[in-house]
Amino acid sequence: MRLSGAAIVAGVMGWPVAHSRSPALHGFWIAEHGIDGAYVPMAVKPEHLRRALEALPLLGFAGCNLTIPHKEAALEIVDEIDASARRAGAINTVVVDAHGRLSGRNTDIFGFLEALRAARPGWSAAIGPAVVIGAGGAARAVVAALIDDGAPEIRLVNRTPARAASLAKELGGPVLGATWERRAEALQGAALLVNATSLGMAGQPALELALDLLPREAVVNDIVYAPLETPLLAAARQRGNFAVDGLDMLLHQARPGFAAWFGVEPQVTPALRRAVLATLE
Ligand code: ATR
Repeated sequence: MRLSGAAIVAGVMGWPVAHSRSPALHGFWIAEHGIDGAYVPMAVKPEHLRRALEALPLLGFAGCNLTIPHKEAALEIVDEIDASARRAGAINTVVVDAHGRLSGRNTDIFGFLEALRAARPGWSAAIGPAVVIGAGGAARAVVAALIDDGAPEIRLVNRTPARAASLAKELGGPVLGATWERRAEALQGAALLVNATSLGMAGQPALELALDLLPREAVVNDIVYAPLETPLLAAARQRGNFAVDGLDMLLHQARPGFAAWFGVEPQVTPALRRAVLATLE
């Protein structure tokens, strides 16, 4: 990565930030397109987020990504929040405009839909009922995406039902609650199953879910990408379901930020996947 003299600089703020795959991802595109730019990790403590964001235009940054724990806190700091960030209830992408103002966006909704469309050309949420497991920040972007893309029914399952109920109330749309205990039954007739919990992630227990009632034509998507092949995806593939891993969403959500900062529409290619995957191993 070239830092000195880079014409365009962006980065990612997190605490900690070492786990972020964004520097590898954006660094790949910077090199691929021969851009005179840099993308840097920035370890920013929660209590310093405001000052760090306000410093971006002063430092000549084109913008940044935000990761844990800054995504919600930034809503109170940026100068404007676009519809995607309002809908997702979180900001993952900040763009500094020509006047030095900070625009907060959320590209997870876009990334989730684009990952499925890229894996299954012609895919649309309108094809049938979806089952979403989880009701945290990631689930919120998934449910918002499914509503926006015309899902006829979204069955929302969460260990803590009150969280699912408040998410459903906030987002509106055709969202139905299903209990954690009877989650396997919610799979009947579903066209899509999404794990939006942290279950299945390295160091976490697996998501226990019997897939027997899930139609074989249903697509199964896990937003967890470490490991890439979660127990859920392995079980889904084994019984013939089409499986989409979490890395695709991570790669696709990065596209709008890169385009806004560096002025190039980047592509998600097998070479990019390999480069980012190499940093996970
Ligand atoms: P994120 O922003 O990544 O979505 P989060 O807001 O902490 O993270 O949400 C984590 C999700 O994983 C929640 O849906 C959580 O369920 P609860 O709302 O009941 O906490 C779910 N989750 C985490 N650990 C779980 C476990 N052991 N069993 C069931 N669900 C779990």
